[in-house]
Amino acid sequence: MSEGLTKSAARNIFFGGTIFFLVILVALTVHSYGYIEKNSTDVAGITPGVEQGKAVWERHSCINCHTILGEGAYYAPELGNVWARYGGFEDADTARDGIKDWIRSQPTEVEGRRQMPHFEINEQELDALVDFFKWVNTIKTQNWPPNVAG
Ligand code: HEC
Repeated sequence: MSEGLTKSAARNIFFGGTIFFLVILVALTVHSYGYIEKNSTDVAGITPGVEQGKAVWERHSCINCHTILGEGAYYAPELGNVWARYGGFEDADTARDGIKDWIRSQPTEVEGRRQMPHFEINEQELDALVDFFKWVNTIKTQNWPPNVAG
């Protein structure tokens, strides 16, 4: 080689760069794990009702029309904050009844509005669904969704 980079300098840059970025990768991975543990999932709040509600949500594929925390289909409203939208943080009983009534009374058959099908969901499962929605609305999501309309 004439001038500039020697073989050993190139090798040093290669190994040095590799090690440098590997260290950054490991540090960021460790940081992410710690951050997720501390800041997001409210594990203590996962009651049997929340678990069952999630199972009901999955069994009926509500996600085929709805999003939850932005994941899912964009046909129907975001449900990650449906608890807040129904005023759950101010009046929990009214919100619970409101959400259950909504699900029970579908379809609305209001012309020009998108329709939600009727689902055969019993009382106890409806309560579990609401427990699930409430739980989702209380975990830390870095303020997603950004507004109450979802
Ligand atoms: C075929 C599509 C579809 C499926 C599947 C569906 N929904 Fe809906 N859902 C809708 C539509 C459309 C609306 C909004 C209708 C309107 O505003 O008139 C809605 C609205 C709602 C609302 C009220 C949201 C609000 O902000 O007022 C709730 C709660 C809800 N759905 C729960 C569920 C649950 C629980 C399931 C599963 C058991 C489900 N949906 C499955 C279409 C669907």
